[in-house]
Amino acid sequence: MARIGVLTGGGDCPGLNPVIRAIVRKGITVHGHEIFGFRKGWKGVLENDAVELTLQSTSGILHRGGTILGTSRTNVYKVDDGEAKVLASLKERGIDVLIPIGGDDTLGVARKLFAAGFPTVGVPKTIDNDLAATDFTFGFQTAVQIATEAIDRLHSTAESHDRVIVCEVMGRDAGWIACYSGLAGGADVILVPERPFDVDEVCDHIRHRYETTGKTFAIVVVSEGATRAGGGEAATAADSVDSFGHVRLGGIAFELEREIEERTGFESRATVLGHIQRGGSPVAFDRVLGTRFGVAAIDAASDGTYGVMTALRGTAIELVALDDALKEPKLLDPELYATAEVFFG
Ligand code: F6P
Repeated sequence: MARIGVLTGGGDCPGLNPVIRAIVRKGITVHGHEIFGFRKGWKGVLENDAVELTLQSTSGILHRGGTILGTSRTNVYKVDDGEAKVLASLKERGIDVLIPIGGDDTLGVARKLFAAGFPTVGVPKTIDNDLAATDFTFGFQTAVQIATEAIDRLHSTAESHDRVIVCEVMGRDAGWIACYSGLAGGADVILVPERPFDVDEVCDHIRHRYETTGKTFAIVVVSEGATRAGGGEAATAADSVDSFGHVRLGGIAFELEREIEERTGFESRATVLGHIQRGGSPVAFDRVLGTRFGVAAIDAASDGTYGVMTALRGTAIELVALDDALKEPKLLDPELYATAEVFFG
């Protein structure tokens, strides 16, 4: 029996609650642990703000979006004596193993704490699907489903008004959400950070579609992190950066709306999906993946396998070293983009 700490850090993500529920269910009923949930990510650990998680308090949360623990983008290593404060909190609360659930930033802190000697087991989370070493992160399929449904809805307005609609999706520096939802939604052009775009080529695709199909509307899906060929930065929605140094991306759809209309004469509109993609109930795939990750994480914490992250490899759940998992982001598979390109224009 041990005392296990859990936290959720970074952007919220559909599937976090299934992970928490699984850790608590197997942790208590099979391993006999006590489980404490730190509130608001690393902030809760810095401030020793935690609550004991029980079978009762984690029942009925499987289908709920967000995280019952709350989250934040707190970077322990940007706080004076942050690491020492975290280690002191964990000691005071008698935590033996910490399970941080998060993306590369949150898990990067877990990796450093492990290097400093504290047992951690990471669970990868992000709608962006950009974590290496795991084939999928939970939250991604839900975001893709929401974006696909939005693209379906945008079709009817585009068609009724003879418009080009530019739909901006999240994903930071990776084009996974754009490519999957664009493919599933039948987008006429998909723009991703991995392939800087030329707006004249985008317009050529749209004109070609009009000429060859007789259609008088088009859907362009653009990733928030897409950039222009020949250099240039992604469009940003704010000047400030978060504690991990990330700018807030957003706004490329509005630039494209104007430029496409100017060049082609086709009336254009932009839609930015934003946080709708992270909200609400997780789809079944993400509930199952989150549950499998939670069970694997509590088993690893109980077996004494630390400094690892749960990962989906093919259909199996495996444990990979945090060091290996966080080396590089996982960018869009070029083969997938080549498949999407078949349907451009
Ligand atoms: O990493 C998930 C994500 O939703 C990105 O796709 C997006 O760029 C970012 O978080 C938005 O962050 P915030 O919710 O802090 O504005």
